[in-house]
Amino acid sequence: MPRHLLGLQGLPAADLRELLHAADHADTLATPLAGRIVANLFFEDSTRTRTSFAVAAKRLGAEVVDLWGFASSINKGETLIDTATNVEAMGVDVITVRARQSGAAELIARHVMCPVINAGDGKHEHPTQGLLDTYTFAEAHGRLDHFDLSGLTIAIVGDIAASRVARSAIAAMTTLGAKVICVGPAPMAPPSLERLGVHVARTLDEVVESVDAVMMLRIQFERHEEGKTDAKKDAESANRGGVLASVREFRDLYALTPERAARMKDRAIVMHPGPINRGLEIDADVADGPRSVILRQVANGVRVRKAVLAWAVGG
Ligand code: CP
Repeated sequence: MPRHLLGLQGLPAADLRELLHAADHADTLATPLAGRIVANLFFEDSTRTRTSFAVAAKRLGAEVVDLWGFASSINKGETLIDTATNVEAMGVDVITVRARQSGAAELIARHVMCPVINAGDGKHEHPTQGLLDTYTFAEAHGRLDHFDLSGLTIAIVGDIAASRVARSAIAAMTTLGAKVICVGPAPMAPPSLERLGVHVARTLDEVVESVDAVMMLRIQFERHEEGKTDAKKDAESANRGGVLASVREFRDLYALTPERAARMKDRAIVMHPGPINRGLEIDADVADGPRSVILRQVANGVRVRKAVLAWAVGG
């Protein structure tokens, strides 16, 4: 059976720790992917994830081929499954896939024989991002030995309902013992999130002083647009897709400003999976400030993806 990584929900703590420990030792990996080909099938935009998979694969000795959705025969009516089976027929060894549709990676995994790694599918999961976020949280708080996050609390703030990043981070962090507080207005942080084992708060001010990390999320305007008619999009364009009553209201309650960052605990960190909308969910002085581990997350993304690729091919 090929080793797919499609999501972190339901993954036991032992499996998470195996991947995180492997990430911790990723610098010691030689070239377990020498002679192999990793195909990045990206049907949605990406800067970090696609480049990070490519860097990780090359460091492990693999060759990388990229298929961009905007330049593929998907635009001529070919299905995701046909696209993936055609790429596999060329003899690739691992497929990473990013797609707008939740469940796309799992669908492809059911139709190919090589390992499939979910690089983000719709609002569902982004498992390598969840792993790198968990790794970075553990690293900042000296928990790399056992990846035991008990006693630590993280606030995930903003557009959680639309966020595959949040879903994967919640799964990994709660499984490893962290307390997770989801912070946002009801449409973005609905009470139903509590089924994932998290707490829900309505303002950042009520939690900012007590947490060990604040992870800000971008508002996923493009996902809120899905399924709407052009007329409805036009009517709502004044307030960016109707997601927000007003950007100012969102900023008042949820933006990580320098004033709010100054109230965080001494060792508390600021995280963001990117891309950042500076001046909306996070201010530039905070994103670039001393608490920020945002670029550390990006660097850790390479070690996590090296570990996942090596694991996928049985290394
Ligand atoms: N965090 C993340 O998935 O970024 P990209 O969309 O740039 O890959």
